[in-house]
Amino acid sequence: MLKKMLITAAFGLVLSACAMQQEQKAQVSPDSLYARLGGMPAIEAVVDEFTARMAADPRVNKGFAKTDIAKFKKNLADQICEATGGPCKYKGKDMVSAHKGMNITNEQFNITGGHLAAALDKFNVPMKEKNELLSAIGSMQKDIVGK
Ligand code: HEM
Repeated sequence: MLKKMLITAAFGLVLSACAMQQEQKAQVSPDSLYARLGGMPAIEAVVDEFTARMAADPRVNKGFAKTDIAKFKKNLADQICEATGGPCKYKGKDMVSAHKGMNITNEQFNITGGHLAAALDKFNVPMKEKNELLSAIGSMQKDIVGK
């Protein structure tokens, strides 16, 4: 009896997990920038390349000395995923808090945009998608520069 109940409960759990997955998938439009970029694997590859470029550039890497890079990459990938219509939920700090006290300049912001553009180029992201992502990131400038 107990065994049967457990099996029924387990089956119910599997079913509801499937339903949740379906629901998550259903929320992602195939026209979204997220889908056109190639979903999370593509975003993670771009984030890896971008982070390596940032880490190697003395004009922008000072603030990263004490950063947990794995966490930074995860948060950045989630942020891009969410901002482009993907199924993720960004759980990091808002952009003003994340960059507070860094006194980031417009020049550093533009250099960072350049590293992102180069990372997108490395994976042959087409011009249209590249521009859409760069302008989404560009809209964050006022929250990042001079804080
Ligand atoms: C171009 C747009 C930018 C975006 C979308 C962006 C996004 C992010 C995100 C998502 C985080 C993680 C926040 C968290 O984990 O809670 C972060 C942290 C950070 N960002 Fe940016 N960022 C940008 C520009 C810059 C620039 C221009 C610099 C420096 C030149 C910079 C330096 C940093 C540093 C040092 C951290 C880590 C802070 C820490 O260790 O807590 N970011 N950024």
